[in-house]
Amino acid sequence: MTEQAKKVFIKTYGCQMNVYDSERMAEVLTAEGFSETSEMSNADLIILNTCHIREKAAEKVYSELGRIRKIKSDRLAEGRSTKIAVAGCVAQAEGIEITRRAPIVDFVVGPQSYHRLGEMLKRSNARCQKIIETEFPGAEKFHNQPVRQKRLNASAFLTIQEGCDKFCTFCVVPYTRGAEYSRDYTEIIQEGRQLLNHGVREITLLGQNVNAYHGTMPDGSTGSLARLLYGLAELEGLERLRYTTSHPSDMSADLIRAHGEINKLMPYLHLPFQSGSDRILAAMNRKHTSAEYRRIVDRIRNVRPEIALSTDIIVGFPDETDEDFDETMKLVEDINFAQAYSFKYSARPGTPAANIPLQVEEQQKNERLQTLQALLNEQQSRFNRSCINRVLPILFDKNGREKGQIIGRSPYLQAVNAQGDGVCIGKIMDVEIISAGPNSLKGVIKSVAEPAIKDSMIN
Ligand code: SAH
Ligand code: SF4
Ligand code: F3S
Repeated sequence: MTEQAKKVFIKTYGCQMNVYDSERMAEVLTAEGFSETSEMSNADLIILNTCHIREKAAEKVYSELGRIRKIKSDRLAEGRSTKIAVAGCVAQAEGIEITRRAPIVDFVVGPQSYHRLGEMLKRSNARCQKIIETEFPGAEKFHNQPVRQKRLNASAFLTIQEGCDKFCTFCVVPYTRGAEYSRDYTEIIQEGRQLLNHGVREITLLGQNVNAYHGTMPDGSTGSLARLLYGLAELEGLERLRYTTSHPSDMSADLIRAHGEINKLMPYLHLPFQSGSDRILAAMNRKHTSAEYRRIVDRIRNVRPEIALSTDIIVGFPDETDEDFDETMKLVEDINFAQAYSFKYSARPGTPAANIPLQVEEQQKNERLQTLQALLNEQQSRFNRSCINRVLPILFDKNGREKGQIIGRSPYLQAVNAQGDGVCIGKIMDVEIISAGPNSLKGVIKSVAEPAIKDSMIN
């Protein structure tokens, strides 16, 4: 690899935490003299930041590595070397196995170890050998990163918590991301300030279990997500706050109250319930019942009636019967979601549910998923249509595909497109919604809206 003009290409799979990690990797590598490229064939270093959550997600990585092998050999024929790194959750789960299955891989770097990328590159240049870093140093990754760089987007992710201690029986996250770790309150506020100084207007706090956040406060006491939200809401320049993903058991009273009190906290909540059947929920080790989920939703809607709810649902968990599935349908009907993600259960090696003998037939899973998605799509379309003729504040953050089109997000996280000038990007504008599709809204810009809140944070 030449010392000047080194280029890195990063491809991101999986959840928003990986999106955040990819941004941070790019920043770590900028400090090492790299710049980003969107062309894989131009890259001296190719990083796949991977996801292990379902079998399909993990397999995608290997098919991509097959394509990359060709790029690496074409570049070599032109006298250019290419380093290949597999990062993220597949890296953590499979470790050295990856280099056996795909010998072109030079590094395997787990989600908690990428702050060491620079040093790994040096080691790899010095000695032609595979480098595997999949330790769980917890805080180390966050303490050893460069300050946030200038960014193009008005909306930014900020990871505040990593890992998970819940051990749902279907899920790989506790194994790929390790035990729960919460960053210190002050460190998060500092990173928030850096983002705002670069023009960010909206911050989405991230964690696999974000509402289990319990970072240390400046006075040494244990914090909570609610306390952090109140603190961040006071930062000048911040107009919108969101957080994801929450577990129902950690929707504490102070967090629910925050939804009623902090105007900057957007009226949208992603709250996975996975199944409507208590029998399946127990087998999933979800630690909540369907009735408890309903009660939590009632309490949230009490303090913020307009809140749009989103969720994650799994169909075809081992031993799921038609009756269990009906309970899931019933819960969806009763709650009425604005948006949702639904998945067929995928048996993951090493998780307890993978060993349950009564796995559901693929055909059965497909049918249930179709039935469920028909209902979810109907609910989402209905919610989107209910926005027609309303004037909503939209935070525009990018150009659309069509000429003169800009795209932003509503308070309810819907994508909204409108005809508008590039100068609107990065701003919140009043937009009258004129039509609604299943996945996006169309609107007409009315005027520049005021920031969500100026002097006072509380209603
Ligand atoms: N931490 C979040 C989300 C974790 S992964 C939470 O606790 O809800 C995102 C979603 O993927 C999960 O909510 C679940 O619906 C789905 N998922 C996780 N493991 C899965 C598996 N083995 N098969 C199918 N879907 C799965
Ligand atoms: Fe996975 Fe459950 Fe933890 Fe969510 S709460 S990350 S689904 S183990
Ligand atoms: Fe996937 Fe890892 Fe996120 S398994 S969903 S990238 S935490």
